[in-house]
Amino acid sequence: MNPAYQGAPGHAAPVQAPGYGEPAQQPGAPVPTAEPIVESPARRKLAGVRAEVAKSVVGQEAAVTGLVIALLCRGHVLLEGVPGVAKTLLTRTLGAALDLEMKRVQFTPDLMPGDITGSLIYDARTAEFSFREGPVFTNLMLADEINRTPPKTQASLLEAMEERQVTVDGDPRPLPDPFVVIATQNPVEYEGTYPLPEAQLDRFLLKLILPLPGRSEEIEIINRHAHAFDPRDLKAAGVTEVADADDLEAARAEVAKVQVGPEVLAYIVDICRATRTSPSLSLGVSPRGATALLATSRAWAWLSGRTFVTPDDVKSLVHPTLRHRVQLRAEAELEGVSAETVLDGILGSVPVPR
Ligand SMILES: Nc1ncnc2c1ncn2[C@@H]1O[C@H](COP(=O)(O)OP(=O)(O)OP(=O)(O)O)[C@@H](O)[C@H]1O
Ligand SMILES: [Mg+2]
Repeated sequence: MNPAYQGAPGHAAPVQAPGYGEPAQQPGAPVPTAEPIVESPARRKLAGVRAEVAKSVVGQEAAVTGLVIALLCRGHVLLEGVPGVAKTLLTRTLGAALDLEMKRVQFTPDLMPGDITGSLIYDARTAEFSFREGPVFTNLMLADEINRTPPKTQASLLEAMEERQVTVDGDPRPLPDPFVVIATQNPVEYEGTYPLPEAQLDRFLLKLILPLPGRSEEIEIINRHAHAFDPRDLKAAGVTEVADADDLEAARAEVAKVQVGPEVLAYIVDICRATRTSPSLSLGVSPRGATALLATSRAWAWLSGRTFVTPDDVKSLVHPTLRHRVQLRAEAELEGVSAETVLDGILGSVPVPR
């Protein structure tokens, strides 16, 4: 079992490495010879984002790391957890730690597609229609409780996410760059929700699961509240903007230079191919999923201060990158098998390159 997941119920964590400097490692695996830890201003800034978020959110480091990886890859994130585990607080704090334009939309049963993308408004004075931009025209969109809104409205957001543009009246309008959606949802079995269409789930680069806090973390949470922490006032908690779009751009240029050896590329492909032949799955990972795993592993290698991707980087990102891209067979589900256990089995059986 991957040590990156120890202590993380339900494989909630993409990575549990205590700091960006320490790569995840397999027990008994040969300790890599002293790797050059590459310091760069962009990397320091992005590591700083994590420290800012910790001023308001206790724990949940794996989810914070996942969100930073998504920003580096310009990918969208689905954040899942039971009510009250700080999904909203985490995304709001991330927004407050970045000097990017951010909009938050609470998804409700009566939200219309135009409330997301924007709509044509008739101006009586000029006798013309003009386009009023919806909240997707931003850098960081927090789509809170996305599964409380009906499929038609979900579809308008999913389309904008995929195409990075909105078409109104035949007119394509590009969205800003970066454009990253962080959508939160309760686990699908909750009542009064519209599950996202499974076939469209792979528009999310990562699916992160927020676990319940451990005992000492929970004590720290209520201790903060006992000492006047107000989740609505992040400024008072000392959260400031520590990175901007230029830092992200510089970071991306560095991530793009991270080397991936042919044996690691083959390892990624072998993992994805194994999902397609697994008897427990009715749908395996597509080649798009394989490219996503490459991108997230690379970003994690860079955050860890390395200039090349290791098989351990890939392992650390398998669950959050692939868990929503596979579908269980009904029989397997009845037997209590989960996507997480299937992925664990695959990680245990696919030979790891040396
Ligand atoms: N890890 C945590 N660190 C700090 N505060 C926390 C943490 N977990 C929960 N809280 C507290 O619980 C409150 C509820 O969190 P929040 O509203 O973000 O939950 P949620 O996951 O979005 O819930 P819902 O699914 O009901 O929307 C927060 O405002 C905060 O006070
Ligand atoms: Mg919430």
